Amino acid sequence: MDKGKVLLSVTGFNPRRWHELLSSGREVVLEPERPADPSITYAVVWKQPANLLAGLPRLKAIFSIGAGVDHILADRSVPDVPIVRVVAENLARHMTEYVVWRVLDHHRFGPLYQAQQKRKIWREPPQRTASDIAVGVMGLGNLGQAAARALLSLGFRVNGWSRSERSVDGVTTFAGDAGLRPFLNATDILVVLLPLTAATAGIVNYGLLKELRRRNALGGAVLINAGRGRLQKDDDILRALEDGTLKEASLDVFEVEPLPKTSPLWSHPKVFVTPHSAATSDPDHLVAPMLAQMDAHDRGEPLRDLVDKRAGY
Ligand SMILES: NC(=O)c1ccc[n+]([C@@H]2O[C@H](COP(=O)([O-])OP(=O)(O)OC[C@H]3O[C@@H](n4cnc5c(N)ncnc54)[C@H](OP(=O)(O)O)[C@@H]3O)[C@@H](O)[C@H]2O)c1
Repeated sequence: MDKGKVLLSVTGFNPRRWHELLSSGREVVLEPERPADPSITYAVVWKQPANLLAGLPRLKAIFSIGAGVDHILADRSVPDVPIVRVVAENLARHMTEYVVWRVLDHHRFGPLYQAQQKRKIWREPPQRTASDIAVGVMGLGNLGQAAARALLSLGFRVNGWSRSERSVDGVTTFAGDAGLRPFLNATDILVVLLPLTAATAGIVNYGLLKELRRRNALGGAVLINAGRGRLQKDDDILRALEDGTLKEASLDVFEVEPLPKTSPLWSHPKVFVTPHSAATSDPDHLVAPMLAQMDAHDRGEPLRDLVDKRAGY
């Protein structure tokens, strides 16, 4: 059977390993080479150029190499074929490591000790107990649930917020618009793991941060965003840090990426910056299941991990 070709377009990633691994199963067309090849049946993409996917008469599905698909849906010319996103244990493990690392750093006085070390100060603050701190995970999907479980195992109290009602053992869950304020009011450390959609863009703003619990064992509220940069308002975060609404923040994502050199977030003493690297898609873990899905779909089996285009994630 003619398997059809795979179009590969991964802006910002080195395509070499993706190309090599995909080529073990299918003939690969690497953008910008022959993009309108009519024998292309699947596309594997990250931030594809506008119009790249239009005019491919045999295209059956688009595979995002990341968990988020805002980069695909932002292009109005994308044809109406199913979109498959990444749901992978490896990605969830990496995100869980990032979340646990950042929560523990805020919990265990990381910024204070760094400042003390610079000045050679030997001083121990009173020890905190994890069970006195409530971490609120915004977005209880594949990544949010994995992070929530790890935090529970460390003894933190964990709240979760999602669009629909979710039940996760040990997690106090909240849902929808009505659940947002109670969720925030019960949260000391906010971990944002939402997708970027029309409903979530700009949600992490000053008004939302004001709802977090500030009189707590940490001595203030903490924000950790590893979802998407445009979920947040960078200026609102700075304002919240300046007036004490927020005590500290760990940010992996920003409204504009790379974060402009002029951004005050770079040198802010209460902000920990990473370059959108919380959980990077690894072709060695992701390509084999993608090829298996393409083969299964060609045999008539349904695709898994499909995006709900109306919901935008
Ligand atoms: N920084 C990085 O390196 C990195 C790496 C990978 C992914 N990410 C980001 O992480 C995001 C989450 O990934 P995932 O695999 O966990 O996604 P997912 O499984 O689709 O989960 C998304 C969660 O967000 C909730 N949600 C969506 N819209 C909402 C709304 N309007 N109100 C309340 N809750 C809403 C969903 O609610 P329901 O449960 O009701 O559907 C779900 O719980 C991705 O979209 C991506 O942007 C970042």
